[in-house]
Amino acid sequence: MNNLFKKILRKKNINHKHPAHLKKCLSALDLTLLGIGCIIGTGIFVLTGIAAANQAGPAVILSFVVSGFACAFAALAYAELSSSIGGCGSAYGYSYVAFGEFFAWIIGWILLMEYGMSIAAVANGWSGYFNNALTAMGLSLPEALSKAPSLGGIVNLPAMVIILIIMSLLIIGAKQSAKFNAVMVFIKLLTITLFISVAMFNVNPANWHPFMPYGWFSTLPDGKTVGVLAGASLVFFAYVGFDAVSTAAEEAINPQRDLPKGIIGSLAFCTVIYIIVSLLLTGVVPYQELNVSSPVAYALQKIGFQWASAVVSTGVIAGLTTVMLVLYYALTRIIFAMSRDGLLPHSLCEVNKNTNTPIKVIVYCGLLISLIAGFIPLGTLAEIVNIGTLAAFVIVSLGVIFIRKLHKNNKATFKNKWHPLIPLLGIFSCGALMFFLPVETWKRFLIWVLIGVVFYFTYSIKHSHLNKKPA
Ligand code: ALA
Repeated sequence: MNNLFKKILRKKNINHKHPAHLKKCLSALDLTLLGIGCIIGTGIFVLTGIAAANQAGPAVILSFVVSGFACAFAALAYAELSSSIGGCGSAYGYSYVAFGEFFAWIIGWILLMEYGMSIAAVANGWSGYFNNALTAMGLSLPEALSKAPSLGGIVNLPAMVIILIIMSLLIIGAKQSAKFNAVMVFIKLLTITLFISVAMFNVNPANWHPFMPYGWFSTLPDGKTVGVLAGASLVFFAYVGFDAVSTAAEEAINPQRDLPKGIIGSLAFCTVIYIIVSLLLTGVVPYQELNVSSPVAYALQKIGFQWASAVVSTGVIAGLTTVMLVLYYALTRIIFAMSRDGLLPHSLCEVNKNTNTPIKVIVYCGLLISLIAGFIPLGTLAEIVNIGTLAAFVIVSLGVIFIRKLHKNNKATFKNKWHPLIPLLGIFSCGALMFFLPVETWKRFLIWVLIGVVFYFTYSIKHSHLNKKPA
C-alpha cells in the first residue's frame, strides 16, 4: 500500500480518537431498517402510478427491474468500498481515496444536492398526503398555506413543519432516530402487506393488456420521453436511498461486516416489494387511471375497499416520514465528513457532547431545506435528484476499478467476484439512465457542478487538511 493511500485512509477512516467523531451504536438490523426506511417512499407510493399511466403501462414492472439492476451493480460497488474505505462520507469519502480531493469535492457537492433536494421533494409529497388526510376529517388547510407560490399558494406550511420536526428528532441522537425509524418502517411494511393481501384477490388480468403500450423508448412530438426505459429513469427515484446506509459507517458497531449486509439486504428486499406492488397495481386498475397523487390508495378505493384505502394513506404518511428522516441523517453526515476534511467550514463538524450529534449542521440544513420545501414545488425538486444520484453511482463504480488497480492489497471484507464486469455494468447502466433524463435536468445539474468548482477554488482548496504541509 503506498503512503498516500495509507495517509488518506488514516485521515478518512473510522477514527474515534479524532475530536469530532460519532458514537458507535447501530447494529446490522438498524442499518437494514435505515435502508428500508429510506428507500420505500414516494417512488412506489406515487411515481409507480405516474410512470405506468404516462410512460410504461403495465410494463412499469420492467422499468423497476431495469433500474433495480442498475442499482444492484451500484450497491455491490458501495458494499465493497464501504467495507474497505468506510467513513461517514459515503461516495465522497470513496472518491477521495480513489481519485483525490478535487473529484471527491465534486461528488460530495453533488450528494449535497441529491439529498437536500430529495428531502424537500419527499416533504412536498408528505404534505399532499397529510392534506388529503386533513380533508377527509373536514379540516383542510387553505391553498395559500399548502402550496408553493408557483402552484397558486403562498407557502407549503406542512412541508416546512415536518422538516423542522425531523430536525428535532435528529438532534436528540442517532440511536433514538433509529428506534423511531424502526417503528415507522414496521408501519410502512404493514401498509404494503395490507395492499398486497387485498389486491392479490382482485386482479383482472385484462388490465395487463396491452402490456407494453409505449414500447421500450421513444420521444413524443412535444419532447416527452416514453417507454419502459424512460419509465425506468423516473422510477429510479424509488431506489434512491440504499446508498444512504453507507453514511452510517462511523455509527455502525461493526461497519466492515454490517454495512454490506445493510446495503445489499435493504436493496434486495425493496426490489422484491416493488415488483410485487407494481404488478398488482396495474392488475387491479387500468394503467390509464393511475396518474393520481395517491395511486395505491386510489386502486383500493376503486375495488371497493374504502377502509383499506384510508389505512394505507395513513401508513404512507408514516412511510414518507422515515424516508425524510434517513435522507436528512445522510445529508448531515456527508457535510460532517467534508467539513472535518476542511473542505467546508469547521463549525459544521462540531459534535455536541450531550447528544453526540453534529447539532449545528443539523439545524442549518433543517432551516434551509424547510425554506426550499415551502417555496419550491415537488416537480422541480424531484427532477434534479435522479441525475445527481446516478452520477454518484457511476463514480462509485469507477472507484472500485481504480481502488482495485492502484491498491491491490486493500483490505475489503466484501469483494464482488465478477470484477471488473460488475462495476463496468454499473457505469454503463447508470450512465444510460442518465441519458434518458430531460435536457433541462442536465442544465440544472451542470450549473450546480459549476458553482461547486468555483467554491472549491475559492475556499476549500485553501482550507483542506490533507493539503496542509506538516509544520
Ligand atoms: N426512494 C425514496 C422514495 O421513493 C427517495 O421516496
